[in-house]
Amino acid sequence: MKSYHLTVLPGDGIGPEIMDAALSVLDLVGQDFNVQFDYDEALFGGCSIDKHGVPVTDETLKKCKQSDAVLLGAVGGPKWDDQPHDKKPEAGLLKLREVLGLYANLRPAKIYNALLDASSLRPSVIRKADVMVVRELTGGIYFGQPRGMDEDKAWNTLTYSKHEVERIARTAFELARKRDNRVTSVHKANVLESSQFWRDVVEEVHKEYSDVFLNEMYVDNAAMQLVRDPKQFDVIVTQNLFGDILSDISAMITGSLGMLPSASLGEKHAMYEPVHGTAPEIAGKNKANPLAMIGSVAMMLDYTFDMPEAAAMVYDAISEVLELGFRTEDIATRNTSLVSTTGMRDLILEKCSDKSGTIIEMVRMSYEG
Ligand SMILES: NC(=O)c1ccc[n+]([C@@H]2O[C@H](COP(=O)([O-])OP(=O)(O)OC[C@H]3O[C@@H](n4cnc5c(N)ncnc54)[C@H](O)[C@@H]3O)[C@@H](O)[C@H]2O)c1
Repeated sequence: MKSYHLTVLPGDGIGPEIMDAALSVLDLVGQDFNVQFDYDEALFGGCSIDKHGVPVTDETLKKCKQSDAVLLGAVGGPKWDDQPHDKKPEAGLLKLREVLGLYANLRPAKIYNALLDASSLRPSVIRKADVMVVRELTGGIYFGQPRGMDEDKAWNTLTYSKHEVERIARTAFELARKRDNRVTSVHKANVLESSQFWRDVVEEVHKEYSDVFLNEMYVDNAAMQLVRDPKQFDVIVTQNLFGDILSDISAMITGSLGMLPSASLGEKHAMYEPVHGTAPEIAGKNKANPLAMIGSVAMMLDYTFDMPEAAAMVYDAISEVLELGFRTEDIATRNTSLVSTTGMRDLILEKCSDKSGTIIEMVRMSYEG
């Protein structure tokens, strides 16, 4: 039996509730696919500040480095807003990304048919849209030196090394091979030298992936096209600043924050977390939507553990539960059935159980056949 070790960081606010739901789903997947997932849970964010005075301890960082993947709920809340900058819960997040070397942020925006009406865009525009934004996370203008400001001017530096562009391009091409085999490299090469460099390096790496279709787009056009016709995109790969903006645009075409999973990948480590925050106003009330966290587990199964059938089982369960009309409060509309966090968890578990019977049967049949 295969065995994997995870560090689990539920965090603050609704974090523990959605993590509990996601781990129940992971346990079921483990049983169905004969894989053992061990968890080591640790305090992270505000709860770590309360106990240890810092958002993340060295011991927790070490645990994360030693595990096969990290699952994170969410961190922060009004209680810790007045902490000095380096003691805020978010500082723990930056530290963790840095220590794990997480340079690629993956944000899928997949439209579930049952939620077509949740978007501010017309259903005909977004139906079947399934975009993956791959954002470079540790370089570019957010980190470039020199940076600063004085009374008369302010400055930042946008630098990318060949190594940084090559590795993010490879991440995008590899991902495209698991999806619809198309990559759009987004830049501003008509104006910026750093973008000309980005474009050229991505084209060079593409020679190793000639089976994947590559096209180029200027970032202003990409922003427009994402809203005009998101179906045209499969994988978008872009630098930190452009990715920050484009991933929020693509996320919002789905219309629901509680539905959006994400992954951050490095050369050796990976972390999976929902896009949303700690929703303090509903924390502890069994009202949070656990689907973004459950979707993050599905991404982990696919990308870190190479279990695409298990990931598909979870995504299909989400899709079917939504088709049946069950909704947590954040995505509820008229004529839908309101369920709690644990209610949604149980529905997903039930659908996964139904499916796993079928999948196990299919696997057995294919072996016998
Ligand atoms: N990665 C992270 O850990 C992360 C990300 C964003 C915000 N935050 C932190 O979270 C706290 C709250 O921030 P915010 O209000 O700007 O963003 P938020 O994402 O927590 O909430 C925004 C809105 O969406 C709702 N919402 C979010 N997730 C939901 C879910 N799963 N189910 C149901 N409703 C959900 C909230 O109730 C709220 O109305 C702040 O302290 C912020 O710093 C953390």
